[in-house]
Amino acid sequence: MKITVVSKPKDEFKTILFPIEKEDQLANVLSQLAENTNFPAEELINDFKADHGEVQVIYSQAGKLILLGLGKNPGFAEVFKAFRSFSFKWKEKLQSRLCLNLLYVNASSNAALWGEAAVNGLILGGYDAGHYKTDQKKLHPIEKTDAELVVLIKNSGKKIAEQIAKGRSFANTQKEIFHLVNAPGNKKLPGDLANWAIQSGKKHGFKVRVLNKKQISENELDALLAVNRGSEHPPVFIIMEYTPADSDSLPSVGLVGKGVTFDTGGLSIKPSGNMHFMKSDMGGAAAVFGAVEMAAKLKLPIRLTGIVPATDNCVGSKSVKPGDVINSYSGKSIEVIDTDAEGRLILADGLSYMVKNYKPDILIDLATLTGSAVRTLGYEAGAIFSNNDELAAKLYDISIQTGERVWRLPLWDAYRNEIKSDVADVKNFSGKPVAGAISAAKFLEFFTEKHPSWVHLDIAGVAFGDSEFTTQKSATGFGVRLLTEFIGQLVMSEK
Ligand code: BES
Ligand code: ZN
Ligand code: ZN
Repeated sequence: MKITVVSKPKDEFKTILFPIEKEDQLANVLSQLAENTNFPAEELINDFKADHGEVQVIYSQAGKLILLGLGKNPGFAEVFKAFRSFSFKWKEKLQSRLCLNLLYVNASSNAALWGEAAVNGLILGGYDAGHYKTDQKKLHPIEKTDAELVVLIKNSGKKIAEQIAKGRSFANTQKEIFHLVNAPGNKKLPGDLANWAIQSGKKHGFKVRVLNKKQISENELDALLAVNRGSEHPPVFIIMEYTPADSDSLPSVGLVGKGVTFDTGGLSIKPSGNMHFMKSDMGGAAAVFGAVEMAAKLKLPIRLTGIVPATDNCVGSKSVKPGDVINSYSGKSIEVIDTDAEGRLILADGLSYMVKNYKPDILIDLATLTGSAVRTLGYEAGAIFSNNDELAAKLYDISIQTGERVWRLPLWDAYRNEIKSDVADVKNFSGKPVAGAISAAKFLEFFTEKHPSWVHLDIAGVAFGDSEFTTQKSATGFGVRLLTEFIGQLVMSEK
């Protein structure tokens, strides 16, 4: 789709989109709009309240005006969501040539940010989850070759055009991430994750190294190997490095993502009711992929390393058994009480490998780690854990702005007892039905080598959720925005 940003329209449009905020002056805004576009205001003011997601169509001689309600005080997240949902639901009715009119944005709101959010949402709304359907797909109008979007904004200029391009760039990466997370377990083997990273690295300019099973074994990434024992598909250990030119003095960030391509639970097998959702157990890995790709695309001033240990967690005659004691990359021994607590095992190796070999200034891991995080925060927020108050606060702020919300849970040492093992250095499950997300975080902490700036995000409830795209749960892309904005603001905030 061709996108242009202008302050005066050059030609007529058959379809114009007007995002409208619910504000005290709404009647005035609507009157003005009516006056400028030649239709009577009275009924419109009566009918349209600008509630979030509300759509009002006005048909005129010139074409179709679509008013999209954003609700009160909309920020990035609200604009993005309204447009994504609108774009998806209206795909049959939209033209491929659209005008997005941001001239009626309240002066106190940030029109450029709205533009970015709107474009991000519009394009992402073109996502189609029916990847394996055999009938011919209908393209979303904005995906057609002649598609064109003209953004009308008061002070158009290079900076605003760049910000709007950023919205498109995010949408494209998020679509890829949706596709990865939604892919079924039989079409998404660990090697496929590696290939995705290699392709992305080639395209966007970052280095990718993939350790195969033999190399994983030589490197003694034994916890990853243990989880993989029940599988017929070899594990991979993916390492991505994005380093911009002249980056020596830039801060470094290490991201580690759980890449369990399917989680049956292993011998501690899961009930079958919701097991199919466990194709999304690589949502942490997907967030890391997306953030590394975005950092490279936006050329962010940061040294970034992404690590994804990937395997499926299956049942087989060689599967690790409850009670087994395994080794790990760190050299510490682990008693596996429950083979369904596999994410923390592969992350243990990912985290200690990252700290030992890359020593990042900031260490962040993401994982669809526990049902406990889902029970605690539901589907509205991920759980954040950190030993660094400043980092936790910063991520919280960005999470509210982006709509990828996180809420902090404690890492007090009082919880350390939960994972003390009688026979090994640590055990992977307390055996109790309480504080599961916290004890999982305490387990991970054990493998961070006392890193002073560590963040753990348990995204079990938010990586896969309800949306307009599917009847069942599907990928949300959670983390891509959050991490990219966080990384992007690091250097700015240091200055
Ligand atoms: N992948 C699951 C966690 C999960 C649950 C993700 C629901 C998304 C939605 C994880 O590997 C797991 O099975 N965790 C167990 C740990 C327990 C056995 C200690 C859990 O939370 O029940
Ligand atoms: Zn599990
Ligand atoms: Zn899992």
